Amino acid sequence: MSRILIAASLIAAAVSPALARTFTVKNNCPYTIWPAHFTDLNVAANVPDYPSGWEQRSGASVSFFVPDNWKAGRLWARTDCNFSISAPPLQCSTGGCNGGLRCDPRTGTGVPPVTVAEWTFEGDGNQDFYDVSLVDGFNIPMKIDISPAQCADPACNVNLNPACPNELKHVVNGQVKGCKSACFANLDGNQANSPNCCSGQYGLPGTCPPSGVQFYDFFKSRCPTSYAYAYDESSETALWTCDSGLKPNYTITFCP
Ligand SMILES: *[C@@H]1O[C@H](CO)[C@@H](O)[C@H](O)[C@H]1NC(C)=O
Ligand SMILES: *[C@@H]1O[C@H](CO)[C@@H](O)[C@H](O)[C@H]1NC(C)=O
Repeated sequence: MSRILIAASLIAAAVSPALARTFTVKNNCPYTIWPAHFTDLNVAANVPDYPSGWEQRSGASVSFFVPDNWKAGRLWARTDCNFSISAPPLQCSTGGCNGGLRCDPRTGTGVPPVTVAEWTFEGDGNQDFYDVSLVDGFNIPMKIDISPAQCADPACNVNLNPACPNELKHVVNGQVKGCKSACFANLDGNQANSPNCCSGQYGLPGTCPPSGVQFYDFFKSRCPTSYAYAYDESSETALWTCDSGLKPNYTITFCP
């Protein structure tokens, strides 16, 4: 890497507040969580100005800047973490990542099942795209509140774990800690060619309707504004947009 490139990447590391959105993460759960974020660096190298994982007590709120041109970003909560355990992805009951407390910037996505908030800023038509995704299953309830008020606030604000179908339950130490998607649970036995995963011959919106996804209605009926399977745009209540020119800020509340 040339010296000029190194200098440029150092400058890019600090997000200027004038070119950034304010993110606020609130923990309304009656227990500690370990939130984390991840950016797909293959899409763009613009990352939030905050560690990629942290501990957050019940009732606590944190704020940080995210660059106006953030792409393919995600944020989630980990539960019951113990960073003394040797294998990082297994350090939490849900949402653990490669890396440990701070998720690895290249491989540190959360292990399913986990409720995930997703963003791409300044996408097609200069829109922010955002959603609460259950494509990787569910661990705890989450809501996104956007400012300005005219844009939608998606959520999955019910706890899906008590009613989770037996074949989807994620059980840790005898307790249901998450609810897997039918894809992740591998219910049809072939994740490479699966109507639950929208893979192989089912890999297009037209060949992967929600009617072919097992337990789609379980997730979508309880969390109608969340993104409940790989091509849930067709529901028109899954993927949300807001004019990027309005420079929206986002508040993410766990256990809203
Ligand atoms: C955390 O994990 C370590 C290593 O497995 C274990 O010795 C310790 O008891 C655990 N702590 C808690 C609070 O469970
Ligand atoms: C976003 O937050 C900043 C403060 O961090 C504020 O100045 C700005 O007006 C907010 N924008 C919107 C659209 O709420």
